[in-house]
This record gives sequence, structure tokens and C-alpha cells, in this order.
Amino acid sequence: MARIQPFRVEQWMDQYETTPDVLNVAETCASSVSLDELQDLSDNDLRMPLIDTSRPLTYGAIRGSEALRKSVSRTHIGGESSADDVVITQGAISANFLVFYALVGKGDHVVCVYPTYQQLYTVPESLGAEVSLWRLKPEHEFIPAVEELAELLRPNTKTIVTGSMSKAYALAGIRVGWVASKDASILQAILSARDYTAISVSQLDDQVAQYALSERVFSRLLQRNLALTRENLALLKVFVESYPSICSWVQPNSGTMAFIRFTSGGQSREPVDDVKFCLDVLSKTNVMLVPGSRCFGEDRDFMGYVRIGYACSTPILAEALQRLGSYLEQNIL
Ligand SMILES: Cc1ncc(COP(=O)(O)O)c(C=O)c1O
Repeated sequence: MARIQPFRVEQWMDQYETTPDVLNVAETCASSVSLDELQDLSDNDLRMPLIDTSRPLTYGAIRGSEALRKSVSRTHIGGESSADDVVITQGAISANFLVFYALVGKGDHVVCVYPTYQQLYTVPESLGAEVSLWRLKPEHEFIPAVEELAELLRPNTKTIVTGSMSKAYALAGIRVGWVASKDASILQAILSARDYTAISVSQLDDQVAQYALSERVFSRLLQRNLALTRENLALLKVFVESYPSICSWVQPNSGTMAFIRFTSGGQSREPVDDVKFCLDVLSKTNVMLVPGSRCFGEDRDFMGYVRIGYACSTPILAEALQRLGSYLEQNIL
């Protein structure tokens, strides 16, 4: 039986994100689009059909359709790359898992930034690899120190890139991700492992991803999500700066999430118990946050930190921040 630690952030999300009427500012995807919205983003006056409904639903191309792999190569790798350098997976979560399962084992060494998505260090550990954490520090604004990486690298350290449609493209529900590498032997090892877990991805998902990454839609979809994150980050900045005695952060330059540290009011300025804090905020305001020490700090690090996903729809973020502000004023300040 495989021994693997519980995946804390996924369990937290699963437990609380379906709370009735929850204001979810825990999620890290750009606010998800519907198929209708996706079609409206096409720069063609005549809406392009999203899915060819006449196509028989076979397993399809096993590595992912040529068209989708070509689009991933064009939009994410560039240069001399081609469809052959890409394998499509069920989300980045499968891409990450397959990379570790196919390539990492006892005697191998993995370097992983920390804090991060727990899968990236727990899975290689479960496979017997030695994992070195490349720790990002608040006192260095969470900027990775490249000189520390040089010390962590060993002759057997490998580098591979994964990605997905979930975060920047607001399409988590189609469960499409990829592994990209110029090394054919790496892709072959991943394909061999994938034969046992996926065969292919859903042909409907593949077609929707093709549509989203097509030249007619891609830039507009990204523009929508960039505009959303910029507008929302400005709102979050106003919020954090409104509570300087109890709230601090390294303001993100971009992305979809912020790590905010909350302290108690008064003289002591101790970090709050972030798990209790998130649960109390949820029960009193219905705003869902993610506790840093529980989900990203192995119950040791990042005490008092809370992850906020700010790329949700702007009205949801505005309402959540308004309720969180009232909570702070009534319970912490
Ligand atoms: C680093 C990382 N990998 C993978 C995932 C899962 O993404 P997907 O929806 O593409 O499976 C996440 C989601 O938070 C993530 O942060």
C-alpha cells in the first residue's frame, strides 16, 4: 500500500468550498468562464462552434490531439518546439504526478520551492526520493535566492515543465494540463506510466482547450483574466493597507493569490492561530480563506499566514473583503 501524507489544501477546499452561499476567496483560478462566455470571447463576429458534435466519441489521439499539442507548444514553449514535445494530461495535477511517478524513485533527489502546492514534495517523498526544500522567505519578499538553489542542485537533479488550463485560462472544469519537454525519453517514460492511468483525456475537454488556445480566443481570454487580477489586486491592496497594525504582506506583482499575515491586536502582535482564524471567519461571515500553517507550512511554518485567492469575480472579492474588514474590527482590533 502506498504511504502518502494527506493533501492538506485539497482536503481543506473539499471540506469547506461547498458551504452554502460561501464567498470563496480561497480558490486560485481566475474566475471560471462558462462555455457561453468562452464563445463570446472569440474575435470572430460569427461565433465559432466550440465542439464538433458530429464527431464520434472515440478515445481520440492518445497523447492529446495534434491541434491541442501544437497550440500548447505555440503558446507555452515557442522557439523550435512542436506538438511532439507535449503530452496532454488530466490537469496539471496529473502532469505533476506522472512526472514524479515515471521519473523519480529511491536514490533520486528533488528540489522543491516552499511554500508550494504540497503535491510537489509529498509525492516524490512517498516514492522514496530525497527532497530538499528551496525555502522562500518573507524577509526576502518570497523571492527565490538563486545562490541557494545552486547549493541544492546535485548531478541527479532533473527539470521538467507542467502547465494547465485551470488558473490563467479560467477553465479548471475541463481538466486539461500538459507535460512539455524537449527530451523524448522523458516524454516516453511519462507516456508509459500514463497508459495505466488515463489512456487519453476526454475528447470534449480536448476540443474546448483547443478552442481556448486558438489564435482567435487565446489573447482575449488572457486579457480578460489579466484585467481581472489587476483590478482585484488593487482592491486587496486597499484592504491590507487599511489594517496596518494587524495585516502585512509581500504584495504580489501578478498571479492570482496573496499570502497575508494576520496578528492579534493590542501590544503583543502575536500571529493569529490561522486555522482557528479561518474557521471563525467562515462561521461568522461565510468568507472562505486558507490557513497557511495547516496547508502550506506542515503545522510548523507560516503561522498566522492566510492565503487569499483574489482572482475570483470582482463583486465576490469586494463583498468578502468588506465582511472580513468588519470581522477584524469586531474581533481582532
Ligand atoms: C502547482 C500546482 N499544480 C497543479 C495544480 C492543480 O491544477 P489543475 O487544476 O491543472 O490540475 C495546482 C492547483 O492549485 C497547483 O497550484
